Amino acid sequence: MTVRLLDILQVEKPILSAPMAGAAGPELVAAVCNAGGYGVIPLWGRSKEQVATGIDELRELTDRNFAVNLNLSFPYEDQLEMCIAKGVHGVSLFWGMEPSVIARAKAGGLTVLMSVGNAQEAKTAAQAGADVIVAQGWEAGGHVWGQVSTIALIPAVVDAVKVPVVAAGGIADGRGMAAAMMLGASGVWIGTRLLASSEATIHEVYRNRILQASEADTQWAHDLYHVGWPEAPHRALSNSTSRAWVEAGCSEPGNRPNEKEQIGQRPNGDPVVRYQSYTPLPETSGDVEAMSLWSGQGVSLVREVIPAADIVEEVYQAARTLLQSGNSAL
Ligand SMILES: Cc1cc2nc3c(=O)[nH]c(=O)nc-3n(C[C@H](O)[C@H](O)[C@H](O)COP(=O)(O)O)c2cc1C
Repeated sequence: MTVRLLDILQVEKPILSAPMAGAAGPELVAAVCNAGGYGVIPLWGRSKEQVATGIDELRELTDRNFAVNLNLSFPYEDQLEMCIAKGVHGVSLFWGMEPSVIARAKAGGLTVLMSVGNAQEAKTAAQAGADVIVAQGWEAGGHVWGQVSTIALIPAVVDAVKVPVVAAGGIADGRGMAAAMMLGASGVWIGTRLLASSEATIHEVYRNRILQASEADTQWAHDLYHVGWPEAPHRALSNSTSRAWVEAGCSEPGNRPNEKEQIGQRPNGDPVVRYQSYTPLPETSGDVEAMSLWSGQGVSLVREVIPAADIVEEVYQAARTLLQSGNSAL
């Protein structure tokens, strides 16, 4: 199956860069592509002209295959048509299940990667023609679609479909990759570890917290950072905002400590309010610690900032060594 995944994506290594809105721009995605992996660039929430520009920018940096990540709970039709018009290799769809969109993307010549949170969704996506299933476990950082952990999710999804499955959530080093492959995954999709790549576009306060956080320092919440994207479960580092919210009894929107308070500014001057769904960029100002610092539970394995290409190579080589050596304890 891994060979099939590599054939479908036409890359050398079964390592995919997780799309991370705000954090994974063209430099990071191109670095993963140029290192032999498959890059996925988030371009959702943009006009179709901006999607075209985003694709062009990435093509300036790499001539390898990549996918554009689109969010099915926001308008996506124009963006999908632009991906088709631009002839990109793939489209990665998440936050929903729309068989007709998968069919439209396929008819437009795109390779479809569909993110799912359980085996039934994987079946539906595969029946609709998805080429690759991305199974995202509950450990994952950012918005988390399902509630099943990676170690239980991967074999269930692998057993449910005939197409290659890519494992996401908590995979941050070669051990995680080897484990996912042993569970039947054909490749891995890495997010949090790549937040500590030289190319990730995140604020230094956010990066420093990633470098120091333990596996117990994240908070999953149904609707904590609801401003801009309500009722979309997510995982982020525990911080002053999440602690005050927990102390207040995990209260609903409209009844939360310091709601609507402006806590910072985007680089373009727009306000960032408390409980906003927002990835702090290098030029974001204000109380960055209190913002949504998306992170998965694998964060304790992220201890240094190195180029994304080195992360890909290190994870790949370590996983290969582990998978080829077997386990002498048994
Ligand atoms: C900062 C950040 C932003 C994210 N943004 C997106 C996104 O725009 N689209 C998407 O499909 N997933 C997004 N995710 C989820 C990742 O693609 C991926 O599923 C997750 O990071 C995998 O788990 P890991 O962080 O443990 O590696 C985001 C995750 C993070 C950490």
